[in-house]
Amino acid sequence: MSRTLLIVKPDATERNLIGHVVGRLERAGFKVAEMRMVRLSEGEARKFYAVHEGKPFLDDLVAFMTSGPVVPMVLEKENAVEDMRTLIGATDPSNAACGTVRQEIARDIQCNSVHGSDSDENAAVEIAFFFD
Ligand code: CMP
Repeated sequence: MSRTLLIVKPDATERNLIGHVVGRLERAGFKVAEMRMVRLSEGEARKFYAVHEGKPFLDDLVAFMTSGPVVPMVLEKENAVEDMRTLIGATDPSNAACGTVRQEIARDIQCNSVHGSDSDENAAVEIAFFFD
């Protein structure tokens, strides 16, 4: 078993799509190990996305991620990081494969409904960010 982190972003919580995302994950064989609903402060959002410091989209991303509640969750499965990235699809929904979560529900490259950890290393850091 390995673990990864997924965040349901404000554009999806606002459209009542939390259960839809959890259902997609569970049907794909993921076990929800931890889950909470939080409203990020600007400082927390900047810290979470510190890797994107200096990128032109960072300020807009922070404004978006603090615009409503988000739902971080820890998912367990063999090969969790890679399998979840396949399930959610490309960052830009216009490039996301057919049947992926982002292709199905994301609005655009910023309001892309979900975040998923991109490596085992980052998954550990991102899980520790939200959960003890
Ligand atoms: P996420 O997987 O959470 O990682 C960084 C986020 O920045 C990304 O999803 C999008 O919400 C947002 N973003 C906005 N513009 C871009 C862009 N041009 N490239 C990558 N990410 C972007």
